[in-house]
Amino acid sequence: MGKSFILVAVDGGAASGKSSTSKILSERLKLLYVNTGSHYRSLTWAVLQAGIQPDDDASVSSYLETIPIGTIVEGREARITLESKVLGDEIRSEAVNNAVSIVAAIPEVRQFLLKHQRGYADLAKESGFEGLIMEGRDIGSIIFPDANFRFFMFADEAERARRRELEGQVDSIQKRDQLDKQRKTAPLTCPDGAIKIDTTHLTLEKVAQKMQDIVQSGNNMANEPHKS
Ligand code: DC
Repeated sequence: MGKSFILVAVDGGAASGKSSTSKILSERLKLLYVNTGSHYRSLTWAVLQAGIQPDDDASVSSYLETIPIGTIVEGREARITLESKVLGDEIRSEAVNNAVSIVAAIPEVRQFLLKHQRGYADLAKESGFEGLIMEGRDIGSIIFPDANFRFFMFADEAERARRRELEGQVDSIQKRDQLDKQRKTAPLTCPDGAIKIDTTHLTLEKVAQKMQDIVQSGNNMANEPHKS
């Protein structure tokens, strides 16, 4: 019998270590990797380019209806396309960093992306991957609450700021986290039952190894009860 398809959800605040470790895991376990932050970032870039205020919910929502979105698989990563194009470094600009959490708080934006994001499970199957690893803020809570493994990553604020600085990015991570936690729809939260990983003092390799060990052992039990 063939191996069963594995669904891995990874959530956490900005610069908590989700992307780098999820990419490593995708390579090792032959999973399709999806970074949902880039979905919100791409839409935010398009909104800003169109001259729409990010907090103008109605205009943002109706504008989104007009943008054709799609997907392209490059190696182990599936990326969102806007008008058949994958956006580049512009989605990591300071302007996008400052606006993305405002756009991401709009319920219609989240609904629009929810359908798109759930579709990646079928894409991964159709493309012959052994599973899907998707990272973001609401993957284990809303997009795939039944994922086989749900991880929640966190790290000290000073360490997270240091990571962004090393990447040469201007990013007010504290402010973004605050907005992401406070929004009404699908806020950033540690889903009940998720496996928590404190990445503050761990190398990316150590975190990836820890995740790999957990997935390969098949033990998806939360390591401690969630305290709200
Ligand atoms: O992962 P990132 O820092 O690139 O994400 C950018 C922003 O996108 C984040 O501050 C909030 C939003 N986001 C979200 O609301 N839900 C997700 N699943 C992923 C990202």
